Amino acid sequence: MADKKAQLIIEGTAPVELPVLTGTVGPDVIDVRSLTSTGHFTFDPGFMSTASCESKITYIDGDKGILLHRGYPIEQLAEKSDYLETCYLLLNGELPTTEQKAQFVSTIKNHTIVHEQLKTFLNGFRRDAHPMAVMCGIVGALSAFYHDSLDINNPQHREISAHRLIAKMPTIAAMVYKYSMGQPIMYPRNDLSYSENFLHMMFNTPAEIKPISPVLANAMDRIFILHADHEQNASTSTVRLAGSTGANPFACIAAGIAALWGPAHGGANEAVLTMLDEIGDVSNIEKFLAKAKDKNDPFKLMGFGHRVYKNFDPRAKVMKKTCDEVLGELGINDPQLELAMKLEEIALKDPYFAERNLYPNVDFYSGIILKAIGIPTSMFTVIFAMSRTVGWISHWKEMIASGQKIGRPRQLYTGHAQRDLPR
Ligand code: SDX
Repeated sequence: MADKKAQLIIEGTAPVELPVLTGTVGPDVIDVRSLTSTGHFTFDPGFMSTASCESKITYIDGDKGILLHRGYPIEQLAEKSDYLETCYLLLNGELPTTEQKAQFVSTIKNHTIVHEQLKTFLNGFRRDAHPMAVMCGIVGALSAFYHDSLDINNPQHREISAHRLIAKMPTIAAMVYKYSMGQPIMYPRNDLSYSENFLHMMFNTPAEIKPISPVLANAMDRIFILHADHEQNASTSTVRLAGSTGANPFACIAAGIAALWGPAHGGANEAVLTMLDEIGDVSNIEKFLAKAKDKNDPFKLMGFGHRVYKNFDPRAKVMKKTCDEVLGELGINDPQLELAMKLEEIALKDPYFAERNLYPNVDFYSGIILKAIGIPTSMFTVIFAMSRTVGWISHWKEMIASGQKIGRPRQLYTGHAQRDLPR
């Protein structure tokens, strides 16, 4: 991979030759690992120009709006695959055969129930606690129940932990929701698909078990696929960094959940609906766009912009199409969808957004579909966390298997030089 060289000339020192590494596709990288021997660090707060690792899982071309999972375009996976097949692909690198898929689905179904004692954890939270706070706490606590699979150097332990997390996240998410509603918790049903089972645990009660709408189950499954993985985003990088210390996978995923919660990241889907509520009417769009452009105003257009995509986020396109399909099939005429589409239309014509390549991202339309499915806004980022668990754990597995050293960045120190205490 290193047949090219870069030369770094620093005043007063001999030129430094650095290997240039080439991947399958995408930008070459300059391998700066030897730079410390020259007494220098690179400086890249926010990692705008930094490749933190080598990976084979997901590729994004931000200029062309391309997203590939193990080489397969997200549009094709969203249209023709399902979430558990996509999970298998992300975890193992290839699509499963029919037998492998059946075995994987059966394995996941065997891990959907959580330890009965986990229910007592819920009682420590107020009923109105934010679901992400509860999710973070409970997932982190899972490591207290699975002492049999915490040896991260054992591939079987890594495999069973990955399966347990993928299987249990919907159960935990539904528990968190039911607790907030004061309703009894619904146990998983293994006769249902992954998405049907989640909606069953969310919306059925012991008093009434209704069949799950295939329209809603398909929409849910597509939302899961669209959020499954996204290269080295903030929460995935958090999971990799936590994992590099040797922390157990449940603690690492809890760290990812915490990082995802921020409104600049996974918390944006909840913030989009709040923003649309605040805008309220098409007549207020210009006022809010002015706020978004005002550098003295912290308001940002939620669901717009992306560190990597300087074109449409391909997931947003699929999400918008799914929006139209689901609301049409359900006969829902959601004024917030109309408002969101008008906001997108006006923003994309505005020079401020056009000049900065700010387009709708995955979060812009997802909330409208989640609302149509009946999921409360406070649960939107929990859904994102559930979906992204397979991406997080796939990157965790890849990082552990690569034998990567502990992540430990350095800094540019601009504080006081050494000084003595004045006594
Ligand atoms: C996700 O990384 C991933 O892959 C994340 C994700 C995933 O799947 O894991 O895709 C999921 O997190 C999607 C993003 C969700 N967040 C939001 O929708 C929140 C709103 N978006 C912004 O906060 C922002 O766009 C970020 C955080 C997403 C990206 O920020 P960057 O890359 O640091 O870009 P920037 O802030 O440097 O923006 C460049 C310019 C700035 O203006 P200038 O200083 O050049 O004048 O664009 C402006 C920004 O102020 N800008 C916005 C804006 N986003 C960027 N201005 C108004 N509204 C916005 N939404």
